[in-house]
Amino acid sequence: MSGRFTGKSILVTGAGSGIGLATAELFAREGASVLAVDLDEKIEGAFRENPSITVMRGDAGSEADVTAMIAAAVDRHGGLDVICANAGISGGMKGLFDQTAEDWETLLRVDLIGPFLAIKHGAKAMLAAERPGAIICTASVAGLRAGAGGPAYSAAKAGVINLVQTAAQQLTGSGIRVNAVCPGLIETGMTQALYDLARAKNRENMIGQLNPLQRGGDPVEIANAIGFLASDEASYVNGHALVVDGGLSTSHPFAKPRVLGETTF
Ligand code: NAI
Repeated sequence: MSGRFTGKSILVTGAGSGIGLATAELFAREGASVLAVDLDEKIEGAFRENPSITVMRGDAGSEADVTAMIAAAVDRHGGLDVICANAGISGGMKGLFDQTAEDWETLLRVDLIGPFLAIKHGAKAMLAAERPGAIICTASVAGLRAGAGGPAYSAAKAGVINLVQTAAQQLTGSGIRVNAVCPGLIETGMTQALYDLARAKNRENMIGQLNPLQRGGDPVEIANAIGFLASDEASYVNGHALVVDGGLSTSHPFAKPRVLGETTF
């Protein structure tokens, strides 16, 4: 199949569910050979019908596992052009006084050290092969300001946004681009409990009401943004955090007009 990613070797972490799963499918649909990695055993049964996607179990927060998954992508596909450091955990919504140092260590290991390891070892592999590519990390609107996750999650995602800027600078002259995507509220495994609760209470129409599009997002809408950042169309986009949130983060909290047009701003 020919497409934007024909001939490209692409690694996606956290590919067993949600945004990572949709991203792996998008890359495969557009011609790439994809290595889909997840910590959970469900990855072993995933993508069975898709010959462009092979799978592997691995921990995105472990340096040994990240090294192994990058080596596997290089071995299986003859190189590595794109890495999506997407795996993440939310850590729940425990507040400042309830989170422990261990909670922070667990969360930062996956959500911040994970992207660092993917950039470090992925860029090394690209440099060794003299094949500069693109690295995309999944951050979050939680990294822009408070209110979209617990303290550790927000701090980790803010760290990812800075990490892609710092890494882009550190890789000056390499041709490797490092960017992030900042999703708003997306229906995935991570947010399933929230969606299930809203549906159980017949309040599905309340989901996403804080953003101007007044709906939650679909994983494919984030995959599309990741696909853009990975593609040659984004050849001059570097060190950027692309917000994909229906407009959620554009405003400070304010009382919205109930009906469009009721209030003049
Ligand atoms: P999800 O829970 O559906 O998928 C995350 C996947 O990552 C799961 O399959 C899980 O098994 C895997 N995973 C967890 N820890 C791992 C590890 N150490 N190594 C490898 N795989 C691991 O959730 P979703 O939403 O698709 O999450 C993907 C990314 O999107 C995460 O980084 C998350 O923080 C981010 N995000 C999600 C938002 C949402 O509303 N769903 C909003 C903003 C950001």
